[in-house]
Amino acid sequence: MKGKDLLSIGDLTPEEVWGIINRAIQMKKRRGMSTILAGKTLALIFEKPSLRTKVSFDVAMYQLGGHSVYLSQAEVGLASREPIADVARTLSRYVDIIAARTFAHATVESLAKHATVPVINALSDGEHPCQALADIMTIYEKKEKLEGLTVAFIGDGNNVASSLMLTCASVGANFKIASPKGYELPEKILRLGRRFAQQSGAKISLLKQPREAVEDSDVVYTDVWTSMGQEVEMEKRRKAFAGYQVNAKLLKLAAKDVIFMHDLPAHHGEEVAPGIIDSKQSVVFDQAENRLHAQKAILAEILGK
Ligand code: NVA
Repeated sequence: MKGKDLLSIGDLTPEEVWGIINRAIQMKKRRGMSTILAGKTLALIFEKPSLRTKVSFDVAMYQLGGHSVYLSQAEVGLASREPIADVARTLSRYVDIIAARTFAHATVESLAKHATVPVINALSDGEHPCQALADIMTIYEKKEKLEGLTVAFIGDGNNVASSLMLTCASVGANFKIASPKGYELPEKILRLGRRFAQQSGAKISLLKQPREAVEDSDVVYTDVWTSMGQEVEMEKRRKAFAGYQVNAKLLKLAAKDVIFMHDLPAHHGEEVAPGIIDSKQSVVFDQAENRLHAQKAILAEILGK
């Protein structure tokens, strides 16, 4: 992965996905500080809010001996104060790597096109690869395997669902998704997922009913119905997604040792019933923790020796 961009899970081979999982697990065991990225700087550009991504990238750089600089959209003005290409070319003269959270996926692609340093997608409207890598690491930790497992996603075929589907398809985990009409995974992502699945033997199932997806699944995952930037659609989406809440009754249909996952922030009482995140099936805060370990592995794979 040395020197590569990470814009989509589609940029990674299954071997690279496994490389990140294994390295992240090693780094988690070792905890502590290292000097792998001594003298290296990460620029963090955020067009949207962030808790986990911002803090985990910052702490990751610190623990690896490097440094990070946070830039909000108010300061940078990507494509408003300054063209994306100029931001990319300027930052490339100062820093060793850029992580960007953008609205349009095309923005992070444009940054990568014009930067001479690697660019990591820290969430775009299209994908959330860092989340998916932390998620697959979490699933592997909990289930001690990936091939042949079944991951059910309930809700919007959004950035989180897209990256998770691609990651599952890459490593041979089956992926079932139940979405209301009009909110399915994008066709382009599905085509890529099907190609990965053909190579790994994973099965991808597109369903309408949450219970069909959850039945006998090893993992049940959900995300918000209204993502950042879609706030004006909130009421419309609440109606469209009624019946897509993950609650205790739905989880009963899953495998006995099911784990519940959510990338956070959660809208408690909307996509997930109150109490589920605090239940013993929930691994939500392990996922959140693993963002740190997975991103340390990603940074080390891209920048390290
Ligand atoms: N789908 C959500 C994920 C937040 C981490 C969003 O894009 O807002």
